[in-house]
Amino acid sequence: MNFARRFKLNFLNNSIKHGNFNENCNKILAQVRKKTTQAAAGAASGDDNGKKANADEERTTHFGFQKVKESEKDKKVHKVFEDVASSYDLMNDAMSVGVHRLWKDIFMDRLWPTHGVRLLDMAGGTGDIAFRYMRQLAAQKNNLKRHSHVTISDINQHMLDVGKERARLQGLTEEELPFLTINWQQADAEQLPFEDNSFTAYTIAFGIRNCTHIDRVLREAYRVLKPGGRFMCLEFSHLTNSTLQWIYDKYSFQVIPPMGQILAGQWQPYQYLVESIRQFPRQEDFKKMIEDAGFELVYYENLTFGVVAIHSGFKL
Ligand SMILES: C[S@@+](CC[C@H](N)C(=O)[O-])C[C@H]1O[C@@H](n2cnc3c(N)ncnc32)[C@H](O)[C@@H]1O
Repeated sequence: MNFARRFKLNFLNNSIKHGNFNENCNKILAQVRKKTTQAAAGAASGDDNGKKANADEERTTHFGFQKVKESEKDKKVHKVFEDVASSYDLMNDAMSVGVHRLWKDIFMDRLWPTHGVRLLDMAGGTGDIAFRYMRQLAAQKNNLKRHSHVTISDINQHMLDVGKERARLQGLTEEELPFLTINWQQADAEQLPFEDNSFTAYTIAFGIRNCTHIDRVLREAYRVLKPGGRFMCLEFSHLTNSTLQWIYDKYSFQVIPPMGQILAGQWQPYQYLVESIRQFPRQEDFKKMIEDAGFELVYYENLTFGVVAIHSGFKL
């Protein structure tokens, strides 16, 4: 069988297996309707069924467009990033046509770290954010000889291993950057193994969307930051223009999974990627969640019409 035919068959199989965009939208609508009916039934009758329905809801969450048990989501997300670790950087460039680099540059510009900062880069993956932080410090004078620190932390050791090797190849190590201590540490953003008030900045880029309990991640970020510390999140978000959203949806659902299949031999992780983006809270809702965790002076900035957004807040 030639490549084109094999790819077409694969494409069709995956479309059937994972459903097309319209079917997925219908599934979501059906879920929302079901949820609303259950809540209304429970509220109207005050009976146990409504409470039971709500209890069931609490134990489930979304994994892309699928509804899964909370405990299953962690495993599935772990598998996604285990599968993509080696092709992660190549795919990032291909899917965003390199624009993710600009978003990350802008993100680091907004943080503008100076010597003396203690940064926790959570869900740090293969190190893109931490590398920008290191380069920015290396480019600054350090007359006061202040010491800085970065912890790059991720739940997935495979991603960290790829990151460590990239850091070595790019000369971003403690030997090359004597003003800095670097700690690569596996950890769950929902349950951090760090002491209260131990960092001056916390970044999370394209990571929080994958966590099961966003509120727990935010509470943990607040706990480990020192008073005056800054929380910053870079995440896929929602477009402000409906025509652009339509084009973006077409691109996401019809181009990205097939591209994953061709370049990385993987369809499912990229199907998950585009679905999980649609499930993430809208800019204003996420801002409210950050405020609810205790952060102040919270604001957000859309990049590329809202394809991604930067949220920022301070622990005061
Ligand atoms: C899309 S990658 C982003 C990596 C990197 N920040 C970047 O911008 O290139 C998402 C990362 O989140 C990590 N992750 C998912 N759930 C996590 C959790 N609960 N705690 C910590 N990291 C998590 C994944 O392992 C993965 O490395």
